Amino acid sequence: MAIIIDDVSHTFHEYLLLPGLTTKEHIASNVTLKTPIQRYNLKDGIRGHLNTPFVSAAMQAVSGPELAIALARKGGSAFIFCSQSIESQAQMVRKVKEHKAGFVESDSNLAPTATLGDALALRRKTGHSTIAITENGGRNTKLLGLLTSKDFWEYKDDLTQCVSGFYTPREKLVMAEEGVSLQDATNLLWKHKKECLPVVDKNGCLKFLVFRKDYFDHHSYPDELTDGRKRLVVGAALNTYDYMERASALVEAGVDCLCLDSSDGYSEWQAEAARQLRAKFGDKIVLGGGNIVSADAFRYMVEKAEVDFVKVGIGGGSICITREQKGIGRGQASAIMDVAHERNKYARETGIYIPICSDGGLNSDTQMIVALAMGADFVMMGKYFAMTEESPTAKISYRGRLYKPYWGEGSNRARNWQRYKQSEAAHLVFEEGVDAYVPYSGPLADKVEVSLVKLKSTMCNVGVLSLSEFHDKARLTRVSEMTVVEGGTSTVEMLDRMQPNSES
Ligand code: IMP
Repeated sequence: MAIIIDDVSHTFHEYLLLPGLTTKEHIASNVTLKTPIQRYNLKDGIRGHLNTPFVSAAMQAVSGPELAIALARKGGSAFIFCSQSIESQAQMVRKVKEHKAGFVESDSNLAPTATLGDALALRRKTGHSTIAITENGGRNTKLLGLLTSKDFWEYKDDLTQCVSGFYTPREKLVMAEEGVSLQDATNLLWKHKKECLPVVDKNGCLKFLVFRKDYFDHHSYPDELTDGRKRLVVGAALNTYDYMERASALVEAGVDCLCLDSSDGYSEWQAEAARQLRAKFGDKIVLGGGNIVSADAFRYMVEKAEVDFVKVGIGGGSICITREQKGIGRGQASAIMDVAHERNKYARETGIYIPICSDGGLNSDTQMIVALAMGADFVMMGKYFAMTEESPTAKISYRGRLYKPYWGEGSNRARNWQRYKQSEAAHLVFEEGVDAYVPYSGPLADKVEVSLVKLKSTMCNVGVLSLSEFHDKARLTRVSEMTVVEGGTSTVEMLDRMQPNSES
């Protein structure tokens, strides 16, 4: 006979946090949101981490390079979706890694024989106003000078003229030699009041450009998540089919974190994939797995698959119809509590801490706060990020409001990419996700900032200054339906819903 667990599936919405003692030191500026993303030995302390406990879902409608850049700058990380070709996923990772290295590899280069018209076309294509003039117009060849938007006027100069009469020749540039530190390069820019510093090798070939604006940029994003070379951090998803080939291309492109992405990760497929990846890449990469919803699955993932972090959540996603289609899943709060409990038990037994990620179904800032209080080290969100300016889709206007398309990875729309590649897709008979729209919510940085301010404020109310303290000290209570009503605004008239007075 089937085992009926004596348990009711609960959601985050059913819980409220109780305030703890807030002392004078419990102020937002003292709160740190740094959180682990890689398994670590408790006696050694955190290794791989996020500065902000948010990651974006590995979905076509969510995690493209633009969003990855915006999120890393706010301290989190995107997981670039794997429902695309290996080349295109690796290219997206490359784009993030190249975005702002401090040392930027120039992708706007021209030969001295090019015309101003060519320069203009390149500027429009790349959006970069500084063009390196190199011997043959390629990267990593001898640098002859720099052409910037200040050197010619689009509507005044004859665009058929050659750039050679316009660019600043290398003799007049301030340059640095390869190996210079970012600090020294920045100091040179400051000392000579320059916007851009070319870095060349011993033969005078262009290696990198360092920009003044990047220095200022960096200062306006104090939580920015970067690697050892000051490049933005980015993650990417893997499937359990072409994972070896895919992971090799992604690692080559500079990815920092990989995650085996499956709606049900409690499987031998995933354990085998994780073991093979670990054997090939060792500790060079952070490797996550999932999704799971129970303590036994957690044990399997950490002992058999030896993943660095575990993603929790089945059936709660906003576009997800897995529970309706297959009758499988678990209330997200119950899943997190069960897995967090097992994670803590495992840590006591072995001294190894495994971060867990709450994935899917977070529809408000309060739900994400409750998820973190219940033991999640970070949260993965799809809809939240799909709504932002930086998600990869175009805005549409409907009845005076702006929307963005958002579809599940288990929908036919997402699966279409592999129609001709994997025979399984051809046999697909049912969908696990829907194709929908979500309201447009503006720039990611603003939205994340509001969420972080609320999270820090709640942590201060609870009387904690870090997420690990939050896990240890948070006290939560279940709410009745009437408590939810009591917490709302049902007894007053909201101005925007009031009927105009018929007599006036
Ligand atoms: P959201 O934040 O509630 O929108 O949920 C996003 C999460 O839903 C993702 O991170 C995935 O775990 C999950 N998901 C994505 N696509 C599908 C799908 O088509 N069916 C079921 N779950 C999905």
